[in-house]
Amino acid sequence: MRRVYLDNTATTPLHPEVLEAMLPYLRDIYGNPQSIHNWGDAPREAIEDARARLADLIGSRPEEIIFTGSGTESNNLAIKGLAQAYQARGKHIVISAIEHFSVIHSAKTLEKRGFAATSVPVDGYGLVKLDELAKSIREDTIVVSIVHANGEVGTIQNIEEIAKLLKGRGIVGHPDNRLPGNASFCIEFIEGEAMLMLLSSWGIAASSGSACTSKALKASHVLTAMRIPPEIAQSSLLFTLMRDNTEEDIEYVLETLPPIVDRLRQMSPLYAKFLKKQSGGR
Ligand SMILES: Cc1ncc(COP(=O)(O)O)c(C=O)c1O
Repeated sequence: MRRVYLDNTATTPLHPEVLEAMLPYLRDIYGNPQSIHNWGDAPREAIEDARARLADLIGSRPEEIIFTGSGTESNNLAIKGLAQAYQARGKHIVISAIEHFSVIHSAKTLEKRGFAATSVPVDGYGLVKLDELAKSIREDTIVVSIVHANGEVGTIQNIEEIAKLLKGRGIVGHPDNRLPGNASFCIEFIEGEAMLMLLSSWGIAASSGSACTSKALKASHVLTAMRIPPEIAQSSLLFTLMRDNTEEDIEYVLETLPPIVDRLRQMSPLYAKFLKKQSGGR
């Protein structure tokens, strides 16, 4: 059976060039960069070289680059770190309703520590309402954290307009941004988990939302914030692609998915109700 991996925002294979570059450090050059003995010299030089090259790439100073183990760790560090650093200036932060949970939970933690947080709503396409964002900004706002590209539904925010709202006001913008090839669907009258299990039995890996919520069996907070009705949000299906996916992979998904949808709809009381309504109740 063909195997097609389309769940790359959950995790993705290492790029071969990255693997090659990392192998010496995983195998032979294993000193701790902080060590006083000279096992640490080569790893320390490699890290500082990587830091300098990254800084050059994004036009920052090397000491401004902090390496973390994950997106969640980066978001926690950025939001809580900025809040701590700027608390003398103000104690208000703004996020949107469709942020990743690592942003939402960082804001909630800060609320428990005496900060105030405002969550700005989005429209039916997941776009942050700019007038609401403008209204939410206060004298004591220090951070605005809005995901540039939503990893679940693929909405790309108008980040330039958002930046204009913040400019010259001493507010730090944090555009948490991750978006590989993303295709998001809601397939009516079907329960997303059942669809994922059947797809998996045909060798296809997909997701029903962000990796953290896909096992929670509840509609994603992103779709809920977009006011997608719960019965439709329950049927969400997310494919996220990587560089190795081929056209044949996608053809295989296009062949495999419709019969699965038909099969599940045949078992759906909601679909039966819909058909009855369509035929004028006959
Ligand atoms: C927008 C966004 N931010 C943060 C994260 C968390 O990243 P990680 O899984 O590396 O902790 C994700 C994960 O999918 C994400 O989509």
